[in-house]
Amino acid sequence: MYVCICKGVTDHQIRDAVEEGARSFREVQRETGCSTQCGKCACVAKQITREAIVGQMAAAVDDLAYAV
Ligand code: FES
Repeated sequence: MYVCICKGVTDHQIRDAVEEGARSFREVQRETGCSTQCGKCACVAKQITREAIVGQMAAAVDDLAYAV
């Protein structure tokens, strides 16, 4: 779905930016252009960014876990 109408940014693009290494909303903004015009999408975009980062961190922790 479109999150940012001004820049035409979707939730998939935000998740892709995080998957490719963005670790803050500022980095997602830099990569996608999201929330760089009117800013009305910022709350939703930040929430999606946060969820994506948490998901990436959880996956990274799973990779570090060893079977006991
Ligand atoms: S809707 Fe995202 S900057 Fe306007």
